[in-house]
Amino acid sequence: MIPGPIEFDPAVLREMGKPTTSHLDPWFMEQFGQALERMREVFMSPSGQPFIVAGTGTLAMDMAGANLIEPGDRALVVNTGYFGDRFGALMERYGAQVDHVRAEVGDMPALEQVEAALRSHSYKLVTVTQVDTSTGVLADVKGVAALARQYGALAVVDGVCSVAGEELRMDEWGVDLALTASQKAVGAPPGLALVVAGPRALEAWRKRKTPVCNYYADFGNWLPIMEAYEARKPAYFGTPAVNLVAALNVSLGQILAEGMEARIARHRKLSDACKAGVTALGLRQLPREHCRAHTMTAPYYPEGVDASLVGKIGAAGVIVAGGLHPACRAQYFRIGHMGAHTPADILAVMGALESALAASGYAFEHGAGVAAAQKVFLS
Ligand SMILES: Cc1ncc(COP(=O)(O)O)c(C=O)c1O
Repeated sequence: MIPGPIEFDPAVLREMGKPTTSHLDPWFMEQFGQALERMREVFMSPSGQPFIVAGTGTLAMDMAGANLIEPGDRALVVNTGYFGDRFGALMERYGAQVDHVRAEVGDMPALEQVEAALRSHSYKLVTVTQVDTSTGVLADVKGVAALARQYGALAVVDGVCSVAGEELRMDEWGVDLALTASQKAVGAPPGLALVVAGPRALEAWRKRKTPVCNYYADFGNWLPIMEAYEARKPAYFGTPAVNLVAALNVSLGQILAEGMEARIARHRKLSDACKAGVTALGLRQLPREHCRAHTMTAPYYPEGVDASLVGKIGAAGVIVAGGLHPACRAQYFRIGHMGAHTPADILAVMGALESALAASGYAFEHGAGVAAAQKVFLS
């Protein structure tokens, strides 16, 4: 139960274990083509161009930066944690002049702050991390994207900890590029960078005056490959991760079979139950109440309990993650609940958390966390 890599469905893992075909095999062309089509539905972007490239989520961020930034461009980062810092650093590497709008750790900058920044300079693009995995903050992507559009900037969303778990309506909200990685709510093992670029992002890339300064990440190398696979035609630039793409296609199929609305609602319910459980145990949370992610929960250690709690929860049978944000890493831990989880998983987390808290000498009403979570599921 960490915020990625998540636990994968057995059907997805079985697909990984199948013999690796040629990347030009008609069967594989069908898997790849279908996965691209399904990505459009999962990102809710009928007008978008999907890219599936071997790499991690950071490569997906790199593809956004490399293709959309030219030296001297101004970029604005709506920063809610560690991964906002990363996006800023990455764009600076491509020559952008980057400004950040920040809030206190655990909060998200107000839209008024974002608008004030947009009014003060002409930005080519605005990035926002929908869920910053270091803080568990859920950003207002719809609001940020609307402002970006109003001020003539591209809206770029790091959806690594959100796509297929949080509500993200790319086309409806005017998001120009969204990205994720296979190992999170999308539900396939690590190793794939997933990007959907909308028409305005592709237009900005086409209008570049300078070449893309990253050979592997260049849309120009990958676009013909994606178009070919979608047309079920053979093409080659770099050998696709055959087994991973096929596994991704299985997972995307499962996501769409569940239905996006139902999936988002399930993630909300799991999140509500987890948060009710930790609250009932007297644990405060890092993200403020108005901006809490539904794909993860980030509770503080209670008074008198330190980071050894994570190991004790592990000893009780559930793996959770320690803190990540440099400002408060040792003060909190992170529970991931994205993908194919069920209420039973959250109840298991609560059981293990209670055992670990008891082993740490923390005083609480035994069973309160499990009961509060169960109450949410039974309501
Ligand atoms: C919000 C967010 N962005 C980007 C990344 C980077 O992804 P990767 O570790 O796959 O490079 C992560 C990884 O956890 C993330 O949570």
